[in-house]
Amino acid sequence: MNQRSSVAIRAAREAGALLRSMLGTDLSIRSKDVSTDLVTAADVRSEALIRRIIAQHFPGDAVLGEESGSTGDARRGRWIVDPLDGTTNYAHGYRCFCVSIAYEQDGVVETGVVFDPMAGELFHAEAGGGATCNDVPIGVSSCADLAAAMLVTGFPAHRVDDPLSNVAPFSDFLAITRAIRRDGSAALDCCYVACGRFDGFWEPGLHAWDIAAGTLIVTEAGGQVTDYRGRPAGLDSGRLLASNGRIHAQMVDVVAKYG
Ligand code: IPD
Ligand code: CA
Ligand code: CA
Repeated sequence: MNQRSSVAIRAAREAGALLRSMLGTDLSIRSKDVSTDLVTAADVRSEALIRRIIAQHFPGDAVLGEESGSTGDARRGRWIVDPLDGTTNYAHGYRCFCVSIAYEQDGVVETGVVFDPMAGELFHAEAGGGATCNDVPIGVSSCADLAAAMLVTGFPAHRVDDPLSNVAPFSDFLAITRAIRRDGSAALDCCYVACGRFDGFWEPGLHAWDIAAGTLIVTEAGGQVTDYRGRPAGLDSGRLLASNGRIHAQMVDVVAKYG
């Protein structure tokens, strides 16, 4: 395991323990620029903790964190941190949330860690090294027929400009799949595709911190990640499609027109 993976795992575990300990306390919940986009004291403290741990081990490294933006010179690589993915769930005491930490160099995500402190599940991948959950190798599902698939999606928190952006794809998929879930944590949605609990995931309006770790975990588990038109997805593509690979083309057929 590379050194950045070890640091990412340590930071994710410590931040996850912090989130767990703060759940249900006074979280000073407030909205960012729109009323549906929340931030809590836990998001802020978790990011500060992760940044502190990264700085202890890699003092010169650049970091992009959801709550405090970009620091350092990202040309040599950067950490991409979502200190609490699933803030709305967290604020409501709905126990589906995680910490997501990735390291990217030259446009390639090299390390991804997603930790769910309530389930005690730590997902990890290194580029070229496969993906694990709690150190056990994971792989995507074998479902090859969209009609038998269980998909997951999300609705962007920042949805003022286009509040119904994901409603048409949702209803298209609902008519032709076995089931759709909406869990509220894009990073965990990706990890659940990676370990075969879901067969596919799509969502518009995602940010690099939501998906940097999760998408590496999907591809290292044997899955596929693209934009809605089936093209390679950058971290800022916004519209993401992640699947077990076997149903990918069938999913592209549905969402390409929304891409
Ligand atoms: C959100 C979650 C959610 C997704 C939103 C994201 P946050 O991240 O990943 O599942 O639907 O688009 O913004 O704000 O809880 O870190
Ligand atoms: Ca997020
Ligand atoms: Ca977040």
